[in-house]
Amino acid sequence: MSNREKALSYAQENKEKFLDELKEVLRIPSVSTDSARKDDMLRVAEWLVEKLEVLGMENVEIFPTAKHPVVYADWLHAKDAPTVLIYGHYDVQPEDPLDLWETPPFEPTQRGDSLHARGASDMKGQVVATLKAVEAIVKNGELPCNIKFMIEGEEEIGSPNLLDFMEMHKELLAADFCLNPDAGMLGKELPSITYALRGLAYFEIHVTGPSHDLHSGLFGGAVRNPANTLMTLIAGMKDENGHITLPGFYDKVRAIDAEERAELAKLPVNEEFLLKQTGSPSLWGEKGYTPVEQIGARPTLDVNGMLSGFTGEGAKTVLPAKAMAKISMRLVPDQTPDEVYEQLVQYMEENAPDGVKWDIKVEHGGNPSISELGGVGVKAMSDAMSTVWGTPPLFKREGGSIPVVGDMQKALGIESVLTGFGLPDDRIHSPNEKQDLPTWYRGIDALIHFFYNLA
Ligand code: BES
Ligand code: ZN
Repeated sequence: MSNREKALSYAQENKEKFLDELKEVLRIPSVSTDSARKDDMLRVAEWLVEKLEVLGMENVEIFPTAKHPVVYADWLHAKDAPTVLIYGHYDVQPEDPLDLWETPPFEPTQRGDSLHARGASDMKGQVVATLKAVEAIVKNGELPCNIKFMIEGEEEIGSPNLLDFMEMHKELLAADFCLNPDAGMLGKELPSITYALRGLAYFEIHVTGPSHDLHSGLFGGAVRNPANTLMTLIAGMKDENGHITLPGFYDKVRAIDAEERAELAKLPVNEEFLLKQTGSPSLWGEKGYTPVEQIGARPTLDVNGMLSGFTGEGAKTVLPAKAMAKISMRLVPDQTPDEVYEQLVQYMEENAPDGVKWDIKVEHGGNPSISELGGVGVKAMSDAMSTVWGTPPLFKREGGSIPVVGDMQKALGIESVLTGFGLPDDRIHSPNEKQDLPTWYRGIDALIHFFYNLA
């Protein structure tokens, strides 16, 4: 039996053990945005260190950053073989609303083929899959390539400290390319490699008017209502064709050519698929583009939350003193968060009426990216997927954001192989997040093949 075959059968024999370890780490509520969970963040980092050391990784280290630490490790003894930088994030999104979870978010629970827990799919499941693939290999021989791990704790808050970290540790992180398993696949039988991600710019807009909430009868009609004003301003940011009206917003948007449009049209993501995934009564988006293009290749501007006035039971006749909206834009190459911020400010300056004051607070952001598909990493992953699924991967654009991908091109000059074993119906960022376990096990096998294909 070859070492590759031994590793594959080790993975087969250790399915239960692998799953137990995934459950262990899912029990730790590492919500990066929640300052009350700082200790839990550290606990996961330490959990990773222990696992990496057991695998015989070297230079295992927790690097503190301004917020949550980065875990690093390497093994660099494969002569004449490429070096892969394996990226992961150990933080997760908040679990709220808690009452919509069928079982508690940090008590991983199996129902049928699914393992339910926050982070099961995004992306502790993917991180553990890479660790277990490496384990299967090192328990049955030597790694066929050189590997470095960089696992951060700030992805879900926009990776604010990772670009600096990479720039400070260029040599330590030097690699031929990056494996980034944070981008999921299109279906159980549809392994996928992602070549484009959208960026993100996230803001809070505050509008204030009267110095205090007013009686809406005694004063209503004679002063501006901040809630109405904010709604009018937001409504004006998009026209009836779904075009965003901020000045200059599309100037840097890279057009998709006819050839790429034809390729995207072949993907099995049709109207029926999206209606099913979203539960929306119908689809709606920018005119002139298909839904796949709207999600993968066009920017958006969306309200993520709003707050103003009375929202309790019954009625209260009040004219609110202030209103707030959380607004985010998904960006495509070559837009940048800084530029769209300027455009938003200009729009507000030109359109906000007298009688209110406004202020914009910048939350996080991240650059969009396009990855090259020609490298040895994509070939090794593509072959691995063909072996495991019996069908070659689909090449897709993703609407979500992973800031590190563009940052890595900039700081380290390397491309990423973007993939993953999460599915579109995993409800990432939502209650009842799950990981499909048969797909997870296939993912581990694919990763074992991937490392061997690089030899
Ligand atoms: N893994 C996701 C992004 C993703 C999901 C990409 C599915 C491709 C397919 C990632 O963890 C994520 O959610 N990112 C955030 C980034 C943001 C907070 C800067 C996002 O997209 O909202
Ligand atoms: Zn996420």
